[in-house]
Amino acid sequence: MAKSKSKTIYVCQNCGAQRSRWEGKCTDCGAWNTLVEEMVSAEPKTRGWSTGAEEGRTLSAKPVSLDQRLEEIHLTRFDTGYQELNRVLGGGLAAGSFVLLGGSPGVGKSTLLLQMAGGLAGHKHRVLYISGEESVAQTGSRAHRLGIKSPHIEIGSESNLHTIMDLARTKKPDVLVVDSIQTVYLSDLQAAPGSVSQVRECAGHLMGLAKQDGITVILIGHVTKEGSIAGPKVLEHMVDCVLSFDGDPSYNFRLLRSLKNRFGAAQELGVFQMSSKGLEEVTNPSELFLEERGDQLIGSAVFASMEGTRPLLCEVQALTLSSPMAMPRRTSLGIDVNRLHLLTAVLDRHLDIRLSHSDIFINVVGGLKLVEPAADLAVAAAILSTEGRKELDAKTVFFGEIGLTGEVRGVSFVETRMKEADKLGFQHFVVPFSNKKHLGDFKLPKDKKISYIKNVRDLEKLI
Ligand code: TYD
Ligand code: MG
Repeated sequence: MAKSKSKTIYVCQNCGAQRSRWEGKCTDCGAWNTLVEEMVSAEPKTRGWSTGAEEGRTLSAKPVSLDQRLEEIHLTRFDTGYQELNRVLGGGLAAGSFVLLGGSPGVGKSTLLLQMAGGLAGHKHRVLYISGEESVAQTGSRAHRLGIKSPHIEIGSESNLHTIMDLARTKKPDVLVVDSIQTVYLSDLQAAPGSVSQVRECAGHLMGLAKQDGITVILIGHVTKEGSIAGPKVLEHMVDCVLSFDGDPSYNFRLLRSLKNRFGAAQELGVFQMSSKGLEEVTNPSELFLEERGDQLIGSAVFASMEGTRPLLCEVQALTLSSPMAMPRRTSLGIDVNRLHLLTAVLDRHLDIRLSHSDIFINVVGGLKLVEPAADLAVAAAILSTEGRKELDAKTVFFGEIGLTGEVRGVSFVETRMKEADKLGFQHFVVPFSNKKHLGDFKLPKDKKISYIKNVRDLEKLI
């Protein structure tokens, strides 16, 4: 009697670890209840891409001398037709790269890549857009509505990975878009589409397409409730570039950020706006984020932040209220709440204010998330302003990190931040003293003022 080749394994949906028995807790990553039963009929014939094509081996294995043949290893980049997208990708879509675009449902991933296909086609690059989620008619009508019409774009609806690979190898497009990695499957594996084994194996095959056939592959990936890209972390390790597309549902802004990029800076930010005509680029996000800034400026400070290599001005709002509770509330939207606890403690200790019995609310306007400690000074200014009912000058901009002893520490990219604020008509710049030496020969117009501060006490005096 022939022995059945299929067996059951348990795969951790968090880290991809495999077990022969079910366990409540994954001993590799420590996550609970993540082991899911999956059927494996046999080891897939090819694992990953390096062992896949025996005939291609000699070519890809030949090392190139760095000094002599630089022009041969020069990276070709495609213009996507969108400056924001090009910048996030590090100056265009690198040919032969493997890119993952993650985002929550409905944020506009399919729209973005369809529009990108239109932009690429405008530069005569051929795009094959395969959707496992929508029919050809659906994708087609959306493209039609977005005004995308080109002989260089072909759309298809398919979820069998072998068919997709065959299609890509015969059509040889410059760029292949797979919408989404969670819907495609390999028939060799019995695990359900979207499971860790399927995602990992499918991505391995598609990586081969990128690295051996030189087809640029862009995958769309769903994100889980926790905000990480569904599927194993290995997916993020495999790809050259991880982009995340997100946006607050209550705003039209969509923020595209590079979380990892082998061809450019990480944490680069691109800003789009969703309209009835699809996604539009926002080339002047600072103006957009400050647009609705009112005249009532108690508790509102402007922070000159850096998002990747680009300066971005945004508004930080604070509100303090005396609290009847033993444990007052600290609520923060847009900055880390632990950072807020730290700042509150510093202000309480070093200044003549008592925040320990106040509820504190912080909001960064526009749904932006600030991760830089350089935002400290703006947050502190907003808190001091609301606490002392003192109006802040609308044309003042802040940046600087605050340490536990109350000192104001220098930050990077001072000149870039100041130039952006200067361009937008800001008159007064409150910056760390230690950054004075980094300004070099940067000169502000005569009517504008810089205040260098060393300590939070200087900030209090200023306000
Ligand atoms: P979609 O690209 O389908 O999202 P995803 O692929 O990330 O799930 O975007 C769907 C949303 O975008 C939907 O809520 C409607 C909105 N939208 C517009 O507002 N205008 C448009 O022109 C298009 C195409 C979509
Ligand atoms: Mg979609």
